[in-house]
Amino acid sequence: MKKEIRLGVNIDHVATLRNARNEDFPNLLEVVKLLEKINVDLITVHLREDRRHIKDVDVEVIKENNILPLNLEMAATQEMKNICLKTKPYSCCIVPERREELTTEGGLNVKDQKVYLSDFVPEILSAGIKLSLFVDPDLDQIESAASLGVKVVEIHTGKYSRCFGKKDHLNELKRIQDAAFLCKKLGIDCHAGHGLNFENVKEISEIENVIELNVGHFLISHSIFNGLEQTVKNFMKIINHASI
Ligand code: PXP
Repeated sequence: MKKEIRLGVNIDHVATLRNARNEDFPNLLEVVKLLEKINVDLITVHLREDRRHIKDVDVEVIKENNILPLNLEMAATQEMKNICLKTKPYSCCIVPERREELTTEGGLNVKDQKVYLSDFVPEILSAGIKLSLFVDPDLDQIESAASLGVKVVEIHTGKYSRCFGKKDHLNELKRIQDAAFLCKKLGIDCHAGHGLNFENVKEISEIENVIELNVGHFLISHSIFNGLEQTVKNFMKIINHASI
């Protein structure tokens, strides 16, 4: 039987709301406490270069309070590496980042950046931080990630999410299934995330080797209608195959 899937809740857009008024409501730590109470596994934040939502102090406060393990998403820059090594989050996910994008639009091109990344990742790995690379469901990218000594990849499910219920849905699902199978063959863990919601997450959670999901925008947005606690509880029931 497949073991329970871990859920990392990405709280970037709680910070987006807070920043709209430049005050401290909604308070991120209160949200972390609520998520801990309902057995969420991780808190995920993306510290972007332009600090448009999560700020440096948020990363520090979440780590220092140690309520839930922190998963830090960041670009592969020297500035971010320094912050990561100083903060020592439980895990770190390297993502590609373009200043003008609204969200992380695609996976990291590990294949083409192998030389740069082979220099970038060892310090994070030897600091004992669980490191993952955010990649498209592309077998070459996963092989490249594994060849760097990385033990985890997070599969970008954005394209699948956009195609859900449309023409390319099954093709995209198959790409993720094949990617997860390759991870298993290579002995690396497979996480997934981006664009996941109540409808499209079930078949991703059923993929045998997918052991962690990181989900943000939908959960925070849906909370407007049904509250954060109930929204996340319902999501956790779906990913762990209980009926709601
Ligand atoms: N995983 C990674 C690596 C991401 O960059 C993001 C977006 O910040 C997510 C998961 C969550 O995506 P969404 O907000 O669409 O659920």
